[in-house]
Amino acid sequence: MRAVAPAPGIEAPGSAFSPLAPSPAQLGGSPPRWLYAGRDPARAITIEDLRAMAHRFLPDFALGYLEGGAEQEQTLARNLAALAAWRFLPRALVDVSHRSVSSTLFGRPVPIPVVIAPTGLNGLFRAGADRMLAEASAAAGIPFTQSTMSNMAMEQVRAGLDDLRHWWQLYVFGPPEVQEALVARAEHAGCEALVVTTDAQIFGDRSWSSHHFVSPGRLTWRSLGGAALHPRWLAATMLRRPGMPAFENIIEFVPKEHQGFYDSAFWVRDRMDKALDWETMRRIRALWPRRLLVKGLVRPEDVARAAEIGADGVVMSDHGGRQLDSAVAPLEMLPEARRLVGKGFTILVDGGIRRGADVLKAIALGADAVQIGRAALYGVAAAGAAGVTRAIAILTEEMDHTLGLMGATSLAELSPDMLAR
Ligand SMILES: Cc1cc2nc3c(=O)[nH]c(=O)nc-3n(C[C@H](O)[C@H](O)[C@H](O)COP(=O)(O)O)c2cc1C
Repeated sequence: MRAVAPAPGIEAPGSAFSPLAPSPAQLGGSPPRWLYAGRDPARAITIEDLRAMAHRFLPDFALGYLEGGAEQEQTLARNLAALAAWRFLPRALVDVSHRSVSSTLFGRPVPIPVVIAPTGLNGLFRAGADRMLAEASAAAGIPFTQSTMSNMAMEQVRAGLDDLRHWWQLYVFGPPEVQEALVARAEHAGCEALVVTTDAQIFGDRSWSSHHFVSPGRLTWRSLGGAALHPRWLAATMLRRPGMPAFENIIEFVPKEHQGFYDSAFWVRDRMDKALDWETMRRIRALWPRRLLVKGLVRPEDVARAAEIGADGVVMSDHGGRQLDSAVAPLEMLPEARRLVGKGFTILVDGGIRRGADVLKAIALGADAVQIGRAALYGVAAAGAAGVTRAIAILTEEMDHTLGLMGATSLAELSPDMLAR
């Protein structure tokens, strides 16, 4: 085991929320600080270490896709700022010798109220990444949401993982028959919940990611050269069978001449149903007999409307800052949404969760659980299923000690009055 100095480009990530930003504990950069960027997930102490490992492992174009937000990335920054703005108001002299960070989600126990968010193109990070995320989730006992744009057939992701709480995320594209076929398939595959994403019918403008391409799907020479300089990544992705990943769950709907990796992604993108509305959501509700969540809501009245049409829950989300730029963070609207729908309705929130403390803040403000997108992807890129397991363990440990430091012993004790701005 060796402590690895940060890879070039990650010493100064330029984020005010990074542990590498100047600290009051340093005098002009002394003592020096660094993140672990080696290969052993056991040595990652924080999610930020897994992030540094991922940065060393992935070529720039894949990182640009993983990390990037829309336009000026103000929404991306806002997600982190909204979490950072809340401060704990700890209770003193409370016996915290026995603590639990467990909860229940849709009537079933979860060791932590965390769900793996749906993310597309995971095959870009590692061949079989969808399965790795599912394995780590099943082992930890938390739900895994598989994206419409994932790279493994949902049946294959699930095979043999009897304990997996498998959620299926639906992008509404193409004619209604496509949605009907996907919903029926998810039901047949045993998925517990359907998560319908509503905030990506028009694709967000992620210009930092686009700069890696000469034209849609064609990498620049510079990006190709960068990829060639990442042999470990090449060995874990393109040099594996079947080489370039494919969108296994939707490829049957894509015409033969557009079935290439990027080409099929653009084909689907062009066919996203721009008319998606509450009526469509009602129709999907009627099709799907199990738990239904509406993802991508920020306005409290939309959360209330989702409850009215018979959804079982929502994911308050801005897609990790990748869609509408200059938007408020979902966390900022969470207390009002909770007030509107009352206690019984399930609200998940996501965007910027990188610490156990972030999870506790969201729970205190009224969420039943959070979703993690990038935090899980850093893990899978860093070290496959073991990296995701490590990410979940880090969050669990951080939640546990933060809860104790707050003077609380269970999540049920958390409420907005334990936070101040
Ligand atoms: C690389 C990447 C791909 C994503 N793909 C999808 C997707 O296919 N479907 C979806 O509903 N959301 C997608 N999202 C959004 C996530 O589900 C989630 O809302 C977001 O990542 C939460 O923010 P966080 O990354 O800061 O945790 C994606 C996010 C990332 C980072």
